Parts: sequence; structure tokens; C-alpha cells
Amino acid sequence: MSSEHKGVHKATVSFSDGTPAIELPILKGASGPEVIDIRKLYGQTGKFTYDPGFLSTASCNSSITYIDGDKGELLYRGYPIDQLATQCDFLETCYLILYGELPNPAQKSDFVHRVTHHTMVHEQLQFFLRGFRRDAHPMAVMTGLAGALSAFYPDSMNLNDPHQREISAIRLIAKMPTLVAMAYKYSVGEPFVYPQNNLSYTANFMRMMFATPCEEYKVNDVLVRAMDRIFILHADHEQNASTSTVRLCASSGTNPFAAIAAGVACLWGPAHGGANEACLTMLNEIQANGGVAKIGEFIANVKDKNSTVRLMGFGHRVYKNYDPRAKLMRDTCHEVLNELGLQDDPLFKLAMALEKIALEDEYFVSRKLYPNVDFYSGIVQRAIGIPVQLFTAIFALARTVGWIAQLNEMITDPEYKIGRPRQLYQGAIARTVTPIAQRG
Ligand code: CMC
Repeated sequence: MSSEHKGVHKATVSFSDGTPAIELPILKGASGPEVIDIRKLYGQTGKFTYDPGFLSTASCNSSITYIDGDKGELLYRGYPIDQLATQCDFLETCYLILYGELPNPAQKSDFVHRVTHHTMVHEQLQFFLRGFRRDAHPMAVMTGLAGALSAFYPDSMNLNDPHQREISAIRLIAKMPTLVAMAYKYSVGEPFVYPQNNLSYTANFMRMMFATPCEEYKVNDVLVRAMDRIFILHADHEQNASTSTVRLCASSGTNPFAAIAAGVACLWGPAHGGANEACLTMLNEIQANGGVAKIGEFIANVKDKNSTVRLMGFGHRVYKNYDPRAKLMRDTCHEVLNELGLQDDPLFKLAMALEKIALEDEYFVSRKLYPNVDFYSGIVQRAIGIPVQLFTAIFALARTVGWIAQLNEMITDPEYKIGRPRQLYQGAIARTVTPIAQRG
């Protein structure tokens, strides 16, 4: 859809330096703030806009995910996240995100069949993996493995060929769980477990993570459902840092595996995918320092202007209301702890007590700081048996479908161009090199 056809109003920009005023179209999307179309600004005025961190900039057209931060609403292709998380499984959600509609039973079974039959990775990949140190961070390993896929599947690298894009999409969604499980098995020195086609996507992942050749692996449906929900909640989140990285990377025409590797690398950062790990670390520290009895002291520290301590898992750049994913994660947390007989888990009790106090505290209320998805997801993953270091790799696994859908959307958008931001140059102006012998 061309945004040329969506303009309804105009903005007039006037300049105090004598540059003639210009009119810029204002474009209206299906929902959300209108945008001022500045594409002709430079051509007509010789001026750029300045917006570090893209705080006021829409970088693309998109029809995949919509967030209303004030309402605390998250929609994938128009469907509320709570309906998807309670009525659909992850592969249905992947189908929706990729193709725009929920699958009917025949479409679902065909999609599941295609994904299931791409879960094995080239046998040579394990030798590539074995080149890493066993104590390497899983995200270092995953960045390498995702990029290495382009060396193993050269037949699906052409971004401009819809058929090749489709195959690489299925390969990436199918192989990420296998790679994450292999990275984990390698780190603990256990044998790799091959995928098993009679299991669901998520049950298969759990088996590849936790089975050993020594005994039969029993699938626990409650834990599988919890992990599946974690995947659904993390599947896409519009133009965040890693998604924008994937788009920018792929805008050069590179192959899909390389673009996803760039997304994995970006997600690794603690300000993005690493927050659930930080939240669990915080809960552990409060617990070690006295637990629930010390919450008051901790909150006072968070509120102290001179301290840098933050309540991890609280606050969000976009949500200024309860993150809808956090509510779902809290329900899942209850289910998992009940299933495992861990109702008295001290970290969960601590998290609930912290949440209650923070939600009633003027500091958090006035700043619209509410729990985000990371507040409970670490507790769930820890209870399932996922080591803390692997949390971000699980996030990458789940987000892969979102990255691919966004990449496909970009490539098929007639307005797509190679990403090329400009700059406000603050360096030295042109000068002449002094021969080295004359430099003081
Ligand atoms: N604890 C204590 N104070 C906070 C917190 C927090 N978690 N978050 C924000 N504030 C305060 C901040 O100190 C500031 O106060 P003041 O106006 O007095 O200076 C005010 O709230 C606004 O903060 P900000 O940093 O300008 O807000 P932001 O929108 O730039 O930050 C955030 C968003 C997520 C970086 C921040 O809320 C934060 O650091 N939260 C903790 C880390 C976290 O849980 N991150 C996970 C985000 S969800 C992951 C995802 O969706 O991918």
C-alpha cells in the first residue's frame, strides 16, 4: 500500500532563515498517530530532520503489529495478544504473523508439516558449534550460528525471490529451536538431541533441551503450554531495535540468514532482550538480602534520586499502562509453579509483593510505571529449568518469526529503499594533511 494515497491533511513548515515555507503531507494510518511525510523536505529545502533514537520517526509502513501504549494494547494482525495467547498455539501465531490471517485447519496442518520437516540442521553445523568455547555466552553462539546458516543453505539466500524467501522463513522458524537446544547441550556437555517429528514445535524444543539418551523423556503439557505462551508473547513487537536492525540490514539486499543474525546480535543488549535476566538477578539479590521484609528498603533505594537502582521488569518506553503480556505471564507463572509444586516459591512471592507495593506507590503511579513482560517471564523460565543465560536466546527463537515477517513486508513494499540515515556533522571541516615530520 502506498502511503501517497493516505494523506488527508497538510503541515506547513516555515523557516526563520529566509527559506520559503513548504507544505508537507500528513499521512493517516489505520490506527495510531498521524505522520508528517518529510521525504521531499531535503529536496525542497536542503535540510534534514534530526531525531536520534527515532523518538518521533516512523521508519516504514507496517501492517503486522500494533501497540497502543496508553491503553496497554498489543495486536498481531489486529488480534489482541490475550486472545492469541489463550486460543492459539505458537505455530498458528507464526502463520498469522507471516501471512496476515489465522490458518484454517488444512492450512495449519500444512504449515506444521513444513516447519516440522525442516527442524534438522545440516550435520556439519555441529562441528561449527564445537569450535566455540563451552562457556561462551549462548547469544555469542546464536549470533554465529544464525549467520552460519547462510553458509549451509545457499539455495535460499536470494531476498528478491519470493520462493527462496519462503523457504528460508520456514527454515529459520524450524531450525532456531534446534540451534538453541544444541547451544545449551554443548554448554553443559550433554549429547545433542535430534528433533522428533511426532511432537509439537514446543514439545520438541523441550525434548531437545532436556532429554538425554539415558531415559525416556516425558512431555509435560503444562510446561509445554507455558513455553509456547512465552514464544507467542515474544513473537513480534513492531519497530523495536532488533526489528529495525533486521530491516536496515536486509535493506542492502543481503540474505535473510545474515539479516536475522544482525537481529540476534542487537537483541543481545541488556536494554533490549537482556531485561528478563536482569529482573531475575534483582529478585535473587533482594531475596539474598532478606526477601519480602526488605522490599521497603529496596523500593526506597529505587526512588532515591541519587541511586541508579531501577525496579527491573517495571516501566516501558511504549506502554504507559500494564503491559498486556505481563498479565498473561503472571497467570502462566501461577500454572507452572502449581504444576511443579512450587506454590511457595520465594521469588514468586517476592515478585507479587513487589508488584503490589509498586502499583500502590505514588512514585510508580505518577510515572505510569507498570510491570512489563519481563517481570514474571524469568521466574517461569527458571521453574521450567531454563538457565538464566539462555533467556535471551529463547527470546531470539520466538522473535525470529517477527523479524522474518517484517523483512518480507519491507522487501515487498514498493516504497522500500536501502536504509541510509543522514547526520548532523560536528567534526572538523576540510583541512590539509601536514607531513609527519612537521607535526608537533
Ligand atoms: N524503576 C524505577 N524508576 C523508573 C523505572 C524503573 N524500572 N523506569 C523508569 N523509571 C523512572 C525514571 O527514573 C524516570 O523518573 P524521573 O522522571 O524522576 O527522572 C521516569 O521513570 C521515566 O523514565 P525513562 O527512563 O525516561 O523512561 P523510558 O521510557 O525511557 O524507559 C525503560 C523505559 C524500559 C528503559 C525503563 O522503564 C526501565 O529501565 N525499566 C527497567 C528495565 C526493564 O524492565 N526493561 C524491559 C522493558 S520490556 C522489554 C521489551 O518490551 O522488549
